[in-house]
Amino acid sequence: MIIPIKPWLELLDTNGVPGTSGFRGVGMDSGVALSADPLADEFRVGGFGSRNLYPGRPMSERMEFYHEPIMGVQILEAMQPVEGKQIFDGTLGGGGHSKMLLENGAHVIGCDQDGAALEHAGQRLESYGDQFLPVRGNFADMDVLLAGLGVDKVDGILLDLGVSSRQLDDGSRGFSFQKDAPLDMRMDDRAELTAAVVVNEWSEEELIRIFREYGEERRARRAAQEILKAREQKPIETTLELAAVIERAIPRVSGKHPATRVFQAIRIAVNRELEVLEVALEKAISALAPGGVLAIITFHSLEDRMVKHYLRQRSLSHLDRPEWPGPRENPDFAITLKNRKALVADAEEVARNPRSRSAKLRIAVRNA
Ligand SMILES: C[S@@+](CC[C@H](N)C(=O)[O-])C[C@H]1O[C@@H](n2cnc3c(N)ncnc32)[C@H](O)[C@@H]1O
Repeated sequence: MIIPIKPWLELLDTNGVPGTSGFRGVGMDSGVALSADPLADEFRVGGFGSRNLYPGRPMSERMEFYHEPIMGVQILEAMQPVEGKQIFDGTLGGGGHSKMLLENGAHVIGCDQDGAALEHAGQRLESYGDQFLPVRGNFADMDVLLAGLGVDKVDGILLDLGVSSRQLDDGSRGFSFQKDAPLDMRMDDRAELTAAVVVNEWSEEELIRIFREYGEERRARRAAQEILKAREQKPIETTLELAAVIERAIPRVSGKHPATRVFQAIRIAVNRELEVLEVALEKAISALAPGGVLAIITFHSLEDRMVKHYLRQRSLSHLDRPEWPGPRENPDFAITLKNRKALVADAEEVARNPRSRSAKLRIAVRNA
């Protein structure tokens, strides 16, 4: 009998609960060289003077556009991913950022909790051989993942948060209200909590809280009440059923579908996106070598606020309080912020890739 070996390392039993897992063995392919990538040079450090990366390209090349990494130029400038550096990409996704980093010579450990993403990106980046190591797991477990690989410190950590276009576009995953699918929304299909559980089992108060906090939905109470009314009749099972229920609670005003914010809130809850980010921030700073760079791209104000406050706290050499006679050394001082304000995508990138519109990039460097 042939036992299939996955071409990545796998962290087990996360169930969305970071820090609770153990390792399964290695099954890395040695890496068969693929034909040269026509876009590779676009991403070399210093080699991307023209940011107009894709216009007029044939379809086969424009497929690469699907993977265009958000704020790639700024990430390259911050990380300087030259040979000899080792970078942990905690959100491998389609492998867009990893590819850029690899292309410039860095070694990359590409982590994703989504097995399908890992499979796809693993194939796409196969030609980099030993330079690239795909790992399945939650980035909140990066300490366990890195220790399992025998890696003590890395020179860079990248987190490009949220779901990928691939996950949104995959009609079977339940992330989108535009495609009918069972209510799932798990990035990691080994986790127990699904959108169906949230929608059909969580209390009215819990639903209101997540719709308000994670979705910033003004009609959170109405939406929750409509869900409770519907599920009294029968469980809400699919994305389109849920979208129809929400449409009864929230009138359609602008071009945005009324269920947009509710779907976002449920996704954030299902994947415990804020909880894992909080854990990851602390671990990331510990995992960086002196001079190592942490780059985080957020798409949601709650996430950005969390990142901003945490990084600021770790970047102050001294703390002061009115009741203290004078400033005191900050025991958590560990990083220097690259920019005071978050970086955003330029107009050209936003025009090319609308998803970049709400992206905010924060960069910090580990002190020596
Ligand atoms: C926005 S996409 C990343 C795209 C990628 N940077 C690229 O250039 O193709 C986010 C990816 O991170 C993964 N992800 C999100 N949260 C994660 C977590 N806590 N641990 C591991 N992977 C996560 C998702 O499954 C998704 O594939």
